[in-house]
Amino acid sequence: MQATSCIRGQAVGGRRAASTAAAGRRSVVVRAAAANPYAEELKATAKYIATRGKGILASDESNATTGKRLESVGVENTEDNRRDWRQLLYTAPGLGQYISGAIMFEETLYQKARDGTPFVDVLGSAGIKCGVKVDTGLQVLPGTDGETSTQGLDNLQARCEAYYKQGARFAKWRAVLKISEGSGPSSQAILENAHGLARYAQIAQAAGLVPIVEPEVTLGPGAYSIEETAYWSERVYSHVMRLLNEYDVMLEGILLKPNMCLPGLDAPPASPADVAKYTTRTMLRTIPASVPGIHFLSGGMSEEESTLNLQALQEACPNAPWSLTFSYGRALQASTLKTWAGKEENWDAAQQILVALAKANSEAQLGQFKGPHPVPGGGRILQALRTGGAGK
Ligand code: 13P
Repeated sequence: MQATSCIRGQAVGGRRAASTAAAGRRSVVVRAAAANPYAEELKATAKYIATRGKGILASDESNATTGKRLESVGVENTEDNRRDWRQLLYTAPGLGQYISGAIMFEETLYQKARDGTPFVDVLGSAGIKCGVKVDTGLQVLPGTDGETSTQGLDNLQARCEAYYKQGARFAKWRAVLKISEGSGPSSQAILENAHGLARYAQIAQAAGLVPIVEPEVTLGPGAYSIEETAYWSERVYSHVMRLLNEYDVMLEGILLKPNMCLPGLDAPPASPADVAKYTTRTMLRTIPASVPGIHFLSGGMSEEESTLNLQALQEACPNAPWSLTFSYGRALQASTLKTWAGKEENWDAAQQILVALAKANSEAQLGQFKGPHPVPGGGRILQALRTGGAGK
């Protein structure tokens, strides 16, 4: 079939079509994006997840990271205990009012609740789309100062197809970029990670999964300023968008998961207004309006800080073309887990904390959070409880 349109990502069904430019009689080869039978579904899924007033529950910690977190509250790292913990999260009454997607680790995607209902159905009946982490962790780039490349491209197409069959409708791939005092990510790390994200996004879309593209300029030690984070984040995101474009990724069918711009851990903290000013400036400079949702990670911010900064983003950019919203892991789970501590009698209280946190962030997404916060004044939730190589 001949291509009749060259609009990126439309199901035009062509391989290559030649068109002749009238002026100058120059022959231009127009490359039509290969037909993607999932194109309309991808757009609808991304749009749904980016619904205003909703965000993503990131619960895709690897078994090793989940184990560390469970063990911190005295719960053994067994498959049943990991299942119980995820069941607590996914069955929290009312969660679907504030959460449109949940990211799962592969094990969880195939797990069932205690009563035998697959988690995919538990979430589906709450109106929550299932996502799956598809990267397989980080590997140090030789010759760099501990910079990393994200692994997982081998076999990715087959894995994504299997995840789609199991009910997943979106995917996640986390790339990590580091800033240290006086320097930012190397060009090598930026290019490598932008390439990995673009290839992943291309493959995920081919298999019907909306790719969450996560370039995390990670919050780390050092007294570097918020301006430096904004500068490096802008470099990183612009490269990522450039490579997504190079790989014909359909932007209406992705979601972005970036960091907010924060100063280094040893610098004085920034106000929500400053975080919002630099973060929205960075987004406006780099992210096209066709991307439906920008779902920020919490990245170590406290639960309250995550909500207040999200609220400030709406105030700084009231007519944002994308939904400026959340895809929080630690900022939704930390107090929930502490409250549960593996005890059946704490189950309901823990679910209530989770839903209260989700509600606070939902209100912040709409610019309507008035407080008080369900977990006021807590400290930063830093990386100690995450495993290094295995990623999230
Ligand atoms: P945090 O909100 O804990 O940073 O996790 C979000 C996430 O999914 C990072 O990959």
